[in-house]
Amino acid sequence: MLALALALGSGCKDSSSGTASSEGKPAGQARRFTIGVSQCNLGEPWRVQMNADIQAAAAKQPQLKVIFKDAQNDSLKQRAQLEEFVGAKADLIIVSPKEAQPLTEPVARAMDAGIPVIVLDRAVLGDKYTCFIGADNKKIGHAAGDWIVKRLAGKGNVVELTGLMTSIPGQDRRAGFHEAIAGSKIDVIFEADMKWLEPDARAEMESALSRFSKIDLVYAHNDPGAHGAYLAAKAVGREHEMAFVGIDALPQEGVVYVKQGILDATFQYPTGGAEAIETALKIFNGQSVPKKIVLGSRLFDKSTVARGGEALP
Ligand code: FRU
Repeated sequence: MLALALALGSGCKDSSSGTASSEGKPAGQARRFTIGVSQCNLGEPWRVQMNADIQAAAAKQPQLKVIFKDAQNDSLKQRAQLEEFVGAKADLIIVSPKEAQPLTEPVARAMDAGIPVIVLDRAVLGDKYTCFIGADNKKIGHAAGDWIVKRLAGKGNVVELTGLMTSIPGQDRRAGFHEAIAGSKIDVIFEADMKWLEPDARAEMESALSRFSKIDLVYAHNDPGAHGAYLAAKAVGREHEMAFVGIDALPQEGVVYVKQGILDATFQYPTGGAEAIETALKIFNGQSVPKKIVLGSRLFDKSTVARGGEALP
């Protein structure tokens, strides 16, 4: 295993033997490792935060060099980025895919080339990757559903604005939610794919508002979506008629919305950036890593936000 891991790391400049600086070698003597990061877009605050978390964790490891690429929400571009990292013989790839299906093959090809791949947040299909790191989206969707059933006392009209349905988090956040509301008198009267994007959520919500005179709650699969829906409702003076629930809970975004009373609840979706670097170091050190690392989540609502949210059981 150790030999294999060192062999995998051989694509890099410095061929001196030894592992990462955990052995206490001065930076100059330690082997250097290049990590290629393919981020599906940088248009959303959550993704900027993920890169910042990766950068901050990597900055503490002088033997690591991280190259960031932004796929600008284009799966074809993201596929090409993975191929470029393989061509450049990166020592490891971290990818946060836009969509599951189109990114599955390039991830597998990197593995075939002997490059370990850490898949972050949005999964690919199958199991040809080194490690997947992310929160349990089905569980979060379910927790959102439970919260909504309680908030609406089991009955009401809900608008669901889904994340991109060709990405696994969108599918799982929907499935968990529908599982939780099954058997209640909650009706999803309008459902649309806002593709994780605030402007799309706003436009979809405008349609929902024009079609339905009574909406009790909006469940959006991320906080930008919930905020877009809120803005649409506010523009027609209907924001107080309904509650808004989102997911992500970035301290500077969703948590602030809850404090401001714009959102009624948001569920934390950790970026996993620090864990990705931790896992990369283990791989470089020849240690075994789990196939899947599941990150926890926290609920932020009016009653928990002041104390930093509450962990999901
Ligand atoms: C950002 C984002 C987050 C969401 C995650 C799901 O692109 O849409 O808001 O939680 O991706 O993968």
